[in-house]
Amino acid sequence: MSLNSLQDLFVEQLQDLYSAEQQFAAAQTKTLAGVSDSDLKAGIEQHGQETQAQITRLEQLAQTLGIGSLSGKTCQAAKGLVAEGQEMLGEDGDPAVKDAGIIASLQRVEHYEIAGYGTALAYAKRLGHQDAVTALEQTLEEEKATDAKLSQLAETSINAQAV
Ligand SMILES: [Fe+2]
Ligand SMILES: [Fe+2]
Repeated sequence: MSLNSLQDLFVEQLQDLYSAEQQFAAAQTKTLAGVSDSDLKAGIEQHGQETQAQITRLEQLAQTLGIGSLSGKTCQAAKGLVAEGQEMLGEDGDPAVKDAGIIASLQRVEHYEIAGYGTALAYAKRLGHQDAVTALEQTLEEEKATDAKLSQLAETSINAQAV
């Protein structure tokens, strides 16, 4: 696509996020299978449901804005983040240490999403897309809350177990 306006770039960023979310959603089952801590498992399951809702939210947003399908782009960063996460899942070792490593991978994902949604939100505000602002703010808050929860889990329990 050719990028000649902030609107074009906004659409490109939404396509990137859409691809990233789908890749993260697809990786979830495998991640769950490799996790030992029950709180971490529950957190991943909950965010998995949020991720599905975020994908739907992006689709609805695209429809509202009349920008057509968001499919067709592959987010290369998400591909790399997922590959690194799978690498961690494949390692041998102590379950708590692996859980701590999986949290490290998951937080990289959340930070990537926070950056992407923060940018898309700023564009939506600048372009005056009020519905998009509301939707993107909601997703951004979910990503931030997930990141905070992962930090809390690591710092209050899993890192100590991994020592
Ligand atoms: Fe997400
Ligand atoms: Fe997320």
